[in-house]
Amino acid sequence: MQATERAEQSAEQEPAQTADGGPHAEPAADKHTDASEPGATFDFMVVSNRMPVDRCSPDEPGCEDGWRRSPGGLVTALAPMMTKTDGAWVGWHGAPDEHLEPFSHGGIDLIPVQLSTRDVELYYEGFSNATLWPLYHDVIAPPEFHRAWWDTYRKVNKRFADAVVRYAAQGATVWVQDYQLQLVPKMLREARPDLTIGFFNHIPFPPPEIFAQLPWRRAIIDGLLGADLVGFQRSSDAGNFMRSARRFLGASVKQQQVHVKGADGETTHIARAQAFPISIDVKQISELAQRPEIIERAKQIRRDLGNPKTILLGVDRLDYTKGIRHRLKAYEELLEDGKVTVEDASLIQVASPSRERVEQYRLLREEVEGTVGHINGTFDTMQNTAVRYLHHSYPIEEMVALYLAADVMLVTALRDGMNLVAKEYVTARTNNDGALVLSEFAGAADQLKQALLMNPHDIDGLKDTIMRAVNMQPAEAARRMRAMRKQILTNDVDLWSADFLSALKEKVVRDDS
Ligand code: F6P
Repeated sequence: MQATERAEQSAEQEPAQTADGGPHAEPAADKHTDASEPGATFDFMVVSNRMPVDRCSPDEPGCEDGWRRSPGGLVTALAPMMTKTDGAWVGWHGAPDEHLEPFSHGGIDLIPVQLSTRDVELYYEGFSNATLWPLYHDVIAPPEFHRAWWDTYRKVNKRFADAVVRYAAQGATVWVQDYQLQLVPKMLREARPDLTIGFFNHIPFPPPEIFAQLPWRRAIIDGLLGADLVGFQRSSDAGNFMRSARRFLGASVKQQQVHVKGADGETTHIARAQAFPISIDVKQISELAQRPEIIERAKQIRRDLGNPKTILLGVDRLDYTKGIRHRLKAYEELLEDGKVTVEDASLIQVASPSRERVEQYRLLREEVEGTVGHINGTFDTMQNTAVRYLHHSYPIEEMVALYLAADVMLVTALRDGMNLVAKEYVTARTNNDGALVLSEFAGAADQLKQALLMNPHDIDGLKDTIMRAVNMQPAEAARRMRAMRKQILTNDVDLWSADFLSALKEKVVRDDS
């Protein structure tokens, strides 16, 4: 089918003809399609709320020609694959009410989905980030349930699905990403049964006891079960999802598989759930960490801070799930106790701006900035500052320089799907030095077992762990870092996407035979 015909077919219309050749689970490597060509269709498509680039104003750091890299781990993980693939990426470009035609940026074909100011308010800030986000992160903040938000979530999911329906070639593979688009798999299945559909949830999936609060819990599970394969960060997330499918839809789950039935009661496909822990672009970080100018920049950062014995570093989106308040509390008490001094140690906290119009995020910013002001007011001297607080996002080169400058990395998330910052820090430490303090509630704790694991709610425990990291002997640090580096170096993001896509393909082949 040509794109012109596809344009007229929406996800609510009659299904297109079924695939005769069987879907492909791998991106085509030998031809190049350009999304701006009339009639262009793609054999492989990624769909996520954000596209890899985001609108910015020229005065913001990292902004080039009105674009900068989008925030978050999702883009960090998927962009490397998409630059090597002849596929297209469907997403929102971050500016409300702006209509853009398909274009190419950084070697990736991009198909923008337009969101109005009201869509951003109800679908993105509302249902995605004030209902689902807190609900899926252990209700650290209370989720809000509003029917108008849900209606817009459905409407916007449909818009994303329509964009795929329009641009997906017959039998294409479509990989839908994250909690903002959980209804898209089923919408695609209904409109285009020829597609092979994967879904990956970048954030945790809550236990059924918490998920139960969601008034639209059945529709969400049903939406996800439209996929052939639903991927999660941890096996506990996959287990939670399948338990919810059983409890709320009465699905019969065997070996993490559900036979999904259509309206006529016949099985349409088998949906599987499985863990695929996400990773980072190891090659890029390792290469940057060995560049002379970045090594020099790291030294400069240390000099700028007065060459303290220890630099501690936190790097997070300014989000209440990241445990920034707990980290600051522990650090403040260590200063009070005299275990660390501003002469000997310095904490750098990079807090990149995030979801600033959502109430909980506004409150968090006020609280974090108030606490930083209080700590600095109490402990700073003319020469030294206790906490360097940077409310910016930085280009990856500067991040790697920070990783190289820091002796101790603090990842104190209260709940986190994975936390790629932890993996980036370890990868950047090519000399096998430095220490990682890592929350057991971050998905990365499943793989980085040689980190100093701790419970961030236990402030005394967190303080002790920070001091263990500060005082760690080089031999122990090297032993731990070597083991963690081995884990990440052999499990990079290319392997993550290849594993997911081959698992997706494997199932399709088995079903077809
Ligand atoms: O990985 C979680 C996630 O919400 C992504 O889906 C998202 O792109 C990223 O964090 C950053 O959040 P936001 O897109 O809301 O700025």
